[in-house]
Amino acid sequence: MAEQATIAIQGGTVVNAGWSRPSTVLISGDRITAILDVDQPIPSYVERVIDADGSLVIPGGVDPHCHIKNTIGQYTTRDDYHQASEAALWGGTTTVIDFAIPTPGQSPLEAVALRRRMAETSRCATALHGCVTTWDETIPKQLREMAALGVRTVKLFTTYRGEVMAEPDTVLLVMQELKDIGGIAYVHAEANHLIEDAQWRQSQAGGLGAANHAGSRPELAEAAAVAEVLATAESLESPVYFVHQTTSAAVGLVQSARRRGVRAYTETCPHYLALDDSVYSGQHPEQFVCCPPLRSRREVDELNSLVNSGHVHTVGSDHCCYDTEQKNQNRDDVRQMPNGLPGVELRLPVTFSRMVVEQGGSVEPFVALVAANPAKLNGLYPRKGVIAPGADADVVIFDPKAEKTVEATALHMATDYSPYEGKRLTGWARTVIAGGRVVLEDGDYTDPGPSGIALYADPLPPQFLC
Ligand code: URP
Ligand code: ZN
Ligand code: ZN
Repeated sequence: MAEQATIAIQGGTVVNAGWSRPSTVLISGDRITAILDVDQPIPSYVERVIDADGSLVIPGGVDPHCHIKNTIGQYTTRDDYHQASEAALWGGTTTVIDFAIPTPGQSPLEAVALRRRMAETSRCATALHGCVTTWDETIPKQLREMAALGVRTVKLFTTYRGEVMAEPDTVLLVMQELKDIGGIAYVHAEANHLIEDAQWRQSQAGGLGAANHAGSRPELAEAAAVAEVLATAESLESPVYFVHQTTSAAVGLVQSARRRGVRAYTETCPHYLALDDSVYSGQHPEQFVCCPPLRSRREVDELNSLVNSGHVHTVGSDHCCYDTEQKNQNRDDVRQMPNGLPGVELRLPVTFSRMVVEQGGSVEPFVALVAANPAKLNGLYPRKGVIAPGADADVVIFDPKAEKTVEATALHMATDYSPYEGKRLTGWARTVIAGGRVVLEDGDYTDPGPSGIALYADPLPPQFLC
């Protein structure tokens, strides 16, 4: 079992969202205690010196969008907290934020309580988003009780009718309550009626197989729902965070609303930056079925430009650990298929490869997207998302030059495939320290045991967060 110690990380370049410079990081127990200039001596009480020469020393990744042992419809993702958190650590993510989505008959508060118990086996820090699907008179009290437990971000789906979809008035009422408790709505925005219409038309024409997934959830459906939810947020003066945005139109709506003073935020995912809809013409289109779907190459390029010009705030994995057997079932009907891609382990390498290596972006915005901003937008900053004295000792020594070809068999997620199979990625975690424990060192993983701390989200400040 990995033990805590007094550690100095020497020889690397510390990168935070706002600055970077060669420095030495000191850790004692579970906290970062100091950042020293390179010419300052390492104190004699330090027990271990870790060499970070040639590497970036970045805050542990904070993944704002993970589904762990998640059931939607007839499918449950394959991993539990132990497995998902271990894969996260391998990939340089030290905090995973999961969704407590109520199953039929369960209240939002019950879902949170259950997930908190499930998270006890986690190997890294955890936090939770609540979720409201239907409004009733108990919801305001439940939201306050959730906030008292440190859960202030609440997911609302505008799609998946009959499963988790919230009607527009539920979206409005929840956003109104969240404003009072320093919370924020996390919205999956796709206009369900446009999707159902597109799917009906497809069923009359070419069919609803995975190969036709892109057209079954059109870009217009995303833009329409984003526009409607933004109008609600603007009218209430409430903040709003859009999960997994995929198009320049959707991101552009958030940008315009921000210019009008709306506290709106865009998340995207590695797969929307690295993959395009051509995979649906390939041999295994079902392995790429996620909602929203992968978009055209033109949209992917535009989304990448928006990331590199600072118009995207976070990159979440939207990790859904289905395997090929599950993906194969119902591949002839995307309405029945399990949606989502396994991704918690490759979030940093895919994002770094796209943003920094291929497009020449800077390393500070990369850290903002994968660690600092998700921490801020989840009430976890500055405990998480920054290398600073007093912050939790979650530190990743990230080799920006390390290159590897993705092979699912070499990964640690509880699935048998990767959507990035065969892709060459540059930028990998070399050493990972979580809660002061060295859990990964040059390819060797040491189990920290069930050390996952359930984090308490602070109220979000009323001003702009990033
Ligand atoms: O396809 C996806 N994204 N599945 C997971 C559930 C969701 O919509 O986030
Ligand atoms: Zn979603
Ligand atoms: Zn999701």
